[in-house]
Amino acid sequence: MGYPHPIHPGETPVLSKHFGEAEARTFAGWRERGGYEGLRKALAMAPEAVIEEIKASGLRGRGGAGFPTGLKWSFMPKGDGKPHYLVCNADESEPGTFKDREIMRWTPHALIEGCALAAYAIGAERCYIYIRGEFTEPWTVMSRAVAEAYAEGALGDNVFGTGRKIHVTLHRGAGAYICGEETALMNSIEGRRGNPRIKPPFPAVAGLFGMPTTINNVETLAATPHIITHGAAWYKSLCLGNPKSTGTKLISVCGHVLRPGNYELTMGTPMRTLIYDMCGGMLPGRTLKAVIPGGSSVPIMTAEEADRCLLDYEGVVEQGSMLGSAGMIVMDDSTDMVYQIWRLARFYAHESCAQCTQCREGTAWTTRILERILAGKGKEEDFQLLLDLSEQMTGKTICVLSDSCAAPIVSGIQKFRGEFDAYMNGARQPALAGA
Ligand SMILES: Cc1cc2nc3c(=O)[nH]c(=O)nc-3n(C[C@H](O)[C@H](O)[C@H](O)COP(=O)(O)O)c2cc1C
Ligand code: SF4
Repeated sequence: MGYPHPIHPGETPVLSKHFGEAEARTFAGWRERGGYEGLRKALAMAPEAVIEEIKASGLRGRGGAGFPTGLKWSFMPKGDGKPHYLVCNADESEPGTFKDREIMRWTPHALIEGCALAAYAIGAERCYIYIRGEFTEPWTVMSRAVAEAYAEGALGDNVFGTGRKIHVTLHRGAGAYICGEETALMNSIEGRRGNPRIKPPFPAVAGLFGMPTTINNVETLAATPHIITHGAAWYKSLCLGNPKSTGTKLISVCGHVLRPGNYELTMGTPMRTLIYDMCGGMLPGRTLKAVIPGGSSVPIMTAEEADRCLLDYEGVVEQGSMLGSAGMIVMDDSTDMVYQIWRLARFYAHESCAQCTQCREGTAWTTRILERILAGKGKEEDFQLLLDLSEQMTGKTICVLSDSCAAPIVSGIQKFRGEFDAYMNGARQPALAGA
């Protein structure tokens, strides 16, 4: 739903159906809305059967990579005698993405239920929910809901009288984007510096505290009780033709549209419908220039690509970008693309954990070169230098923060070269002093 706008008829509200309803935040209110049915049903099934149902639904991770959720759960070892952990990634710090915080603000029990269900399926007795440090209201709402869930027997040593032990611990981050990367997040929970770890070993083998761990995004986990309640076939049927991308997706839309907000769409909905129908179109007198569809870390799309794009994992790739976490930044013809790309590079340079040379040096130098171009002091060879640096920053580092910085730079140069030229040849006044 486009909260605070009413639900648009073109939306498919599953996760967002009760956004804006204060009563849905309470245990009793959530129960009245069908809450905790999925968990009860799952607890009556064998853990393997729960995993099979999630696999059959086609649910893919909503944190960015789109990895199949049931398959990820099935990687957890069985009968190993070790403690298993579930971690919920509620760090949500990607520029442009603001969906998970709405799930936590309005439907905290949906997330708690999803966490308990997933913990049961993977054999974990404890789940950590890692919440972005700046999320003051979601933190308060989640703290209250967790206490209520314990009081009502939905969490604890004997969940709903089944003898199952499921505990949830909330952990508050300190405001670092890199702590959203799964292994950096685990280091952070352990009290270490939030540096990504080299993989392998993958979390299912050695994750939190060195134990088998599954990590999932808030939206991923919140979807699972609906799947168990209504069945995998129902969830699979929520797609407009592409069976590889099923279910609904919360899309955060920001930028130059009339009605920015969160919209929940059936996978495969045209981007055009979202921008021009649900979001009310571009600001008056303006036309679409570009879209960054997946949060800031994916290639930029031109207006033509956006016009052809179907919003599902494969549809966005077909138009040269990625769905990522589906934070859509919409830019109109007043946008200075060179300035925006510089602003993104500066963000990544600031957030790099600095372990990898290509990332530490690459994000810093690309920012400096873009600054030089914006100051009107760019040189023709800067294009090749930026592309060479981006090449070095892609696919060679411990995590993909480095690739994320390179993606908008490379696509920006390829698709909006004229705007760089205008700074080079003096057709455009410098936007920055100095450099
Ligand atoms: C730099 C960086 C930041 C990330 N930030 C987040 C985040 O805030 N939330 C999230 O769910 N995933 C984030 N991810 C992806 C996680 O590493 C991980 O893939 C995800 O939590 C897995 O959950 P899913 O399978 O449910 O998508 C980030 C990845 C990178 C490289
Ligand atoms: S790519 Fe960057 S953020 Fe990721 S581990 Fe290396 S230095 Fe750190």
